[in-house]
Amino acid sequence: MSQFFALIPAAGSGSRMGHQLPKQYLPLVEKPMIYHALHTLVNCSKITRVFVILAPDDDVWVRYDWTTFKDKLVVEYCGGDARAESVLNGLNAMYSSGKVDGDDWVLVHDAARPCLSAPQLDQLINELSYDGVGGLLAIPVSDTLKRADSDHRIASTEPRAHLWQAQTPQMFRFNLLKDALSKVDSRQITDDASAIEALGLKPRLVLSDAYNFKVTYPQDLALAELILQKREIK
Ligand code: C5P
Repeated sequence: MSQFFALIPAAGSGSRMGHQLPKQYLPLVEKPMIYHALHTLVNCSKITRVFVILAPDDDVWVRYDWTTFKDKLVVEYCGGDARAESVLNGLNAMYSSGKVDGDDWVLVHDAARPCLSAPQLDQLINELSYDGVGGLLAIPVSDTLKRADSDHRIASTEPRAHLWQAQTPQMFRFNLLKDALSKVDSRQITDDASAIEALGLKPRLVLSDAYNFKVTYPQDLALAELILQKREIK
């Protein structure tokens, strides 16, 4: 029986947020941002262990108390210069731990998506557990899409039919993902599915919703705070 593992690459600087503190540590409902996704992943009974991949020189993680996650949480200081490199280094660290089998599933989730919910996570796992390739949470594009020229003028309007926005978690078998990521130029790709696609495979899109958005700009923090507070009140 295959096991499920989660891997959170959290070695980015989050420069678009304009803060000194890396994005994953910005305060959100009285916790560092990464706490919220960790809470959802650690509390999922199907997931055996959650690996967090930090930058080798990260000195912020140790300022917080993570004991609530007990030994289900494993921290590795092996992040790379690009997200894909951090994920690949993380997979290698998981392999070295001796606890992961090549057929086990890995759910890679961005630290910057704090509003991932338990039902979304269950939906992903349920829909993909018997899939031959794996896949990811995603939502169909709803806005009209414009391609810009270098003067910020519209060069063309792109048809949005069949276009989806990729989210995370992205769920693939350990060996397949490791093989895929070791073959790509890590600076050229922004998610794990692209590496799988480069092998000629077709990851499945699992319908998510806009709540699982990525915190990228300062105003996104207030929105994430509202979503998490509403969930707590319920
Ligand atoms: O910067 P962006 O929001 O696209 O980052 C997505 C995720 O990848 C974040 O969790 C970030 O910490 C992580 N990342 C990483 N190593 C990098 C760059 C980003 O783990 N070198």
